[in-house]
Amino acid sequence: MILVTSAGGKTGKAVVPALVAHGHAVRALVRSGTAAAALKALGAAEVVTGDLADAAAVERATRGVRAIYYIPPNMSPNEGLHGANIIAAARAAGVDRLVFHSVLHCQVQALRHHWNRLFVEEALIESGVPFTILQASSYMQNMLPGWARMVETGEHTMGFAVDARISLIDLVDLGEAAARVIADPGYAAAILEINGPAITTTEKAAILTRVLGRPIRAGQTPLATVLDHARHAGASDHALDCLARMLDHYSRHGFEGSTKVLSWILGRPPTDFETFARRILAAGA
Ligand SMILES: NC(=O)c1ccc[n+]([C@@H]2O[C@H](COP(=O)([O-])OP(=O)(O)OC[C@H]3O[C@@H](n4cnc5c(N)ncnc54)[C@H](OP(=O)(O)O)[C@@H]3O)[C@@H](O)[C@H]2O)c1
Repeated sequence: MILVTSAGGKTGKAVVPALVAHGHAVRALVRSGTAAAALKALGAAEVVTGDLADAAAVERATRGVRAIYYIPPNMSPNEGLHGANIIAAARAAGVDRLVFHSVLHCQVQALRHHWNRLFVEEALIESGVPFTILQASSYMQNMLPGWARMVETGEHTMGFAVDARISLIDLVDLGEAAARVIADPGYAAAILEINGPAITTTEKAAILTRVLGRPIRAGQTPLATVLDHARHAGASDHALDCLARMLDHYSRHGFEGSTKVLSWILGRPPTDFETFARRILAAGA
């Protein structure tokens, strides 16, 4: 049995079916039961509820599992506590491996929520628990909630500069990489960046123009609008601060890593943005 945490989020819903497709039984840990039916439909054998801040709940969820795919909640002020709880539970369960879903450039202090994760990586390395760390780039799927509006308005906008180069990984590739890494003991003690190809919003708009057969312009959503949307969606002050810092950093420096490691794990080049966009369109978006 493999435990997947934060299983009801974007990442979890990609990792769970990939593990199932590789023949693993999956226990999905969610904070509330709302995602339970969706996770069962994705093949999870068990869905359990618990808050990652609750050490006893995390310990219960971990009982009897042989491996953990630890996805931390996004932009949480409790990053350290969640990490400490999962590491303690992994040690108590005697797991073969704890795979930590980390993030690209957690070495950069300006990226507040990435930087917080660096200390969980450090704690994991020092814990004695067999581990693998996957540092993921941004997801192609992050644009999907805005897809219909993009088609309607002819504008593809992100919250950072249109010429910032951002590595984008397809969540299908991410799930496949997660499944390969967790099953192969050769990845024990590895710290791996998993990135798709880097691309700017301007380049994405040109591809979307071709794929959709109608003009799509690139744009930058003003910071105030991004923060307003996030606030309305329930983001905490901590998350809003992380978001603002991240967008500023992306505008100035991009967010780019190499595709070499992911190519090596998958045994093929990572999915590029045009292939992703054509798949989304074919799926009826
Ligand atoms: N999105 C990206 O482009 C990207 C790129 C690289 C790495 N990552 C990393 O991947 C991780 C997941 O991101 P995501 O985009 O999949 O986020 P997401 O879709 O927002 O999912 C996060 C999940 O965490 C759950 N959660 C929140 N607080 C929790 C708690 N205290 N205890 C238990 N569960 C809790 C949420 O449950 P509720 O629904 O109940 O709130 C939600 O299902 C993050 O650590 C992020 O840094 C994301």
